[in-house]
Amino acid sequence: MPLLEKHAVSGQRLVCLTAYNYLSALRVAPHADIILVGDSQGMVLHGLPSTVHVSLEMMRASAESVARALLPLNKKPLLLVDLPFGSYEESPAQAFASAALLLKAGAAAVKLEGGAAMVETVRFLSQRGVPVCAHLGLTPQHVNSLGGYKVQGRGTAGDLLVADATAHAAAGAFAVLLEAVPAPLAASITSALLVPTIGIGAGKDCDGQVLVTEDLLGLSAGKPAKFVKRYAELGRDIDTALSAFADEVRSGAYPSAAHCYS
Ligand code: KIV
Repeated sequence: MPLLEKHAVSGQRLVCLTAYNYLSALRVAPHADIILVGDSQGMVLHGLPSTVHVSLEMMRASAESVARALLPLNKKPLLLVDLPFGSYEESPAQAFASAALLLKAGAAAVKLEGGAAMVETVRFLSQRGVPVCAHLGLTPQHVNSLGGYKVQGRGTAGDLLVADATAHAAAGAFAVLLEAVPAPLAASITSALLVPTIGIGAGKDCDGQVLVTEDLLGLSAGKPAKFVKRYAELGRDIDTALSAFADEVRSGAYPSAAHCYS
């Protein structure tokens, strides 16, 4: 039984949302098939300049916090946790040690940023009981060599991406995440693979979609990427609430009798 089914088999597109801690996982869990503890937390939560700065300890602590929210649920989303930069690239053995730490913290599967160089690592992990999702296309941990956050796979680079996706699936990846690639390319990778694709900025034909929860809620700082749709403006709502509290404290309106013990 595969961990996740393709849309063509189940008739359902997969919903993947990020959560970095217990509180957000409580909100996200009822709506998601997959919760991704993404290394995007480095930028979104901690203001780091890129995901390159995220440590394995940060990912372990987040995974544990999110797993605590899922514990009482009967229907649990798949808990997918990113292997951070520097925790898996040296060797398959290094990747296994890092993945084992995350599985012990509550992850059901790990995600790594792939490319041809990672195919053997995916095979090594898959054969040793670690379900792996391969992240292809725009791989943010490689921002220093990609020259920025740019769409990937245009022109002949598209053939390389198809080859990489096929190789990762053949090596045992249970899913392939495609970030910032042209929609027609993602569609042809999706129909070529027997495992599901999850897209972010990869068009509507992937088997599932993922967004950073804080981005779609309008909570993240900075300019959102082209593929982000904002479904709420929680940042604005929070500002309004906090400013009302500050005004009422300063004016003496809070606390009123209703909020005091007699
Ligand atoms: O770290 C993350 O949140 C991710 C998504 C952007 C896919 O990898």
